[in-house]
Amino acid sequence: MKNFYFGVATSAYQNEGGNICNWKRWERLNHLEPCGNACDMWNNFEEDVKLLKNLGVNMFRFSIEWSRVEPQPNRFNEEVILRYKSWVELLLANGITPVITLSHFTLPIWVDERGGWGNRDIPALFMNYVSKVINTISNKYWITLNEPVLECIHGWLHGTRPPGNDMDVKGCLNALNNMCMAHAMAYRCIKTTQPNSLVSIAKNVAYFSVEKWYRPLDYVTKRQIEKLYNYSFLDALVTGHVKFKLMNVSIDSNYIFMKDTLDFIGMNHYNRIYIGYNFCTTPNVSITMSRKNSKQNSMGWELHPKSMYYCLKKIYKKYKLPILITENGSCGDDTHNNYRIDYLTACINYLKKARREGVYVFGYNAWTLYDNFEWDDGYGPKFGLFSNNFETQERRITLCGEIYKNIIKTSQTF
Ligand code: BGC
Repeated sequence: MKNFYFGVATSAYQNEGGNICNWKRWERLNHLEPCGNACDMWNNFEEDVKLLKNLGVNMFRFSIEWSRVEPQPNRFNEEVILRYKSWVELLLANGITPVITLSHFTLPIWVDERGGWGNRDIPALFMNYVSKVINTISNKYWITLNEPVLECIHGWLHGTRPPGNDMDVKGCLNALNNMCMAHAMAYRCIKTTQPNSLVSIAKNVAYFSVEKWYRPLDYVTKRQIEKLYNYSFLDALVTGHVKFKLMNVSIDSNYIFMKDTLDFIGMNHYNRIYIGYNFCTTPNVSITMSRKNSKQNSMGWELHPKSMYYCLKKIYKKYKLPILITENGSCGDDTHNNYRIDYLTACINYLKKARREGVYVFGYNAWTLYDNFEWDDGYGPKFGLFSNNFETQERRITLCGEIYKNIIKTSQTF
């Protein structure tokens, strides 16, 4: 495995268990399946490192839970920070490079109560938390934010995640702007303290297709949505120019301190998304995750591995920055295992092809280590390379895990 990382990705809330943050409150308010103890990773980390060794990975992405570190404003829990530090040391001692995410879809309740990502003070609050963490934990790879665009779309347009606003376009763009600022401030802060670190975000990048090839407005609409979803956030961090536009709302501002705040691009990739525009339907725009006869996973997402190739090519051509796949994978129970295996294998083959053709991609992280809590879908979807018995916390390698292990073993030279 020359100059290449194979890893797995996780997040705190979905795995650690026992976190008291805004998502826990959201579950209660909306009568969703509670996360509870999740996989109890908080108490089993040492055992879990053995699973990583078993797979043969040399990278592990996990997130630090802000609500554990700073449960009350400016009151930091040093023991928690030291626990995370010990995880980093343990991983390094086992030859595994940690990738640390500083915010993965959750916020402390006190931040949420002040408006969360919608609050103009949140970049400063986030930076305060980040500076505390990095004073104790040194690391090479940092991810400030996970999928900021999705977080804002779910929170302010679909209303399916906190704060639960429905088609609040202004609120959505404002939150996106705040997340750009938060990233840029955290980036500057990390680079000042740890100049040799490499910092990015985990950006969800999808491959967009039109619903009907013969409808010209499908193409126009697809271009607009693709721009907002895939590129606008990255553009802002590369150029310092925040330019978000949705319907009749726009934000257009320049921030010098935001320019060049990505050392590489962390790319999460799962989907092909179809966009259509139909005069006769309400709403006119349709956004779907699959077509009638396409192969789908248990969440109804189309399995289209070539999307990985297209996205890698496009993102590299556009930004010329090294790429790390921070997440990719699919879900399904045993009956879907073949789909998962074919998808995983094909995605990695497409990654290799892109790499051979000159795309600078230096690592791949499979989502995820073991079956865990899948947000509003609760414990239904199974993304794990290991299955998990939530009563006993016994993990067992799945067929998909075995295949990944084998891919790692046999990919030494590519
Ligand atoms: C998120 C994960 C999630 C995964 C599968 C990504 O968008 O970062 O938290 O579990 O997708 O849905």
